[in-house]
Amino acid sequence: MFTGAVAGVAFVTGVVVTMVMSAQARALTPGTEVAAQLERLNVALIAMFAVLLACGVGLGIIVRYAVLKPVDQLTEQVRAVAAGDFDHAIHVDRPAELAELSSHIDSMRDRIVSAWRVATDQTEELRRSNGELEQFAYVASHDLQEPLRKVASFTQMLEQRYSPQLDERAKQYIHYAVDGAKRMQMLINDLLDFSRVGRVTGEKSVVDAGEALNIALENLSATIEDTGTTVTRDDLPKVKGNRLQLTQLFQNLIENAVKFRSEEPPRIHIGARRSGGTWEFSCADNGIGVDSKYADRIFLIFQRLHPRDVYPGTGIGLALCRKIVEYHGGQLWLDRDTQGGVDGRGATFRWTLPAAGDDDE
Ligand SMILES: Nc1ncnc2c1ncn2[C@@H]1O[C@H](COP(=O)(O)OP(=O)(O)OP(=O)(O)O)[C@@H](O)[C@H]1O
Ligand SMILES: [Mg+2]
Repeated sequence: MFTGAVAGVAFVTGVVVTMVMSAQARALTPGTEVAAQLERLNVALIAMFAVLLACGVGLGIIVRYAVLKPVDQLTEQVRAVAAGDFDHAIHVDRPAELAELSSHIDSMRDRIVSAWRVATDQTEELRRSNGELEQFAYVASHDLQEPLRKVASFTQMLEQRYSPQLDERAKQYIHYAVDGAKRMQMLINDLLDFSRVGRVTGEKSVVDAGEALNIALENLSATIEDTGTTVTRDDLPKVKGNRLQLTQLFQNLIENAVKFRSEEPPRIHIGARRSGGTWEFSCADNGIGVDSKYADRIFLIFQRLHPRDVYPGTGIGLALCRKIVEYHGGQLWLDRDTQGGVDGRGATFRWTLPAAGDDDE
């Protein structure tokens, strides 16, 4: 178009210059023969000018209807899809190049929309089945508590009441039965806690992490005293979260740090550093540490690395912690890079939590 316009302007300029020159030649009063030739030249130039103008107008009309209008149509359709009408088909008849381009765009739209629908359906299905599973875990563990309590208490009553008639072996069997029932009660309680995260105790507010830690330490005060544990801490910030769950989080991590201690008295440090819109917390200890090859496994529910008679527990603590942190939009992991926790030994766990708005801080 640009080249055409330049050629047209150059041609018109040439015609005008020639007409001016012929007018100047006529002003010099040439002979009749020359004057007649100049006249014919003028007529020829005017005719050429008219033809060129007609060509220009014709070309403009062709460009308008054959190119600009279909491009406009295509733009309009693409804009409709971009605005959210994903079922809007994209199609232009002419010219052939634009028709081909529009069919490519339309098949791309079609594929993206189908993939998106499949993903949306799957997400919906996952959400539904997840909800059902949580509900199931809750109902099952809740309803199991009652019969289990009966088993435990009646077995204990059996022992108390008929103790004189029972020999040592019978007493030992009863002891195993009571122990099994108690362990199952612990498991059920842990499962209930686990299924409650994000479902029952859900409300979030601005929580002072330092206060949550204080409550956790208070709850663990007997264990801390018995084991001679020292807990140090950075200045802990306020975060957006659920007070009860954040307390549970600190409590589980500190409980682990104390439980998996080495022969030295436990030393635990709770750290916090800001990174963008989140706070990264850490819990480092000087205990027996975790082999980095188990860094993922320990967060799975009921997964433990040690026999129960050496270190008691159900293996749900870290799974619960991870669920709590993820419910808050953060992540929890075992730090494989830091060499140990405190004093170059032990383990360091890190987790992120969203910072409370600066207004709230
Ligand atoms: N601070 C730690 N030092 C060393 N090992 C740890 C530490 N924390 C967790 N682990 C390992 O990860 C496993 C899983 O921890 P988790 O808290 O889930 O279970 P648990 O403490 O054994 O049982 P529960 O917390 O349910 O009473 C533990 O059995 C232990 O092997
Ligand atoms: Mg634990």
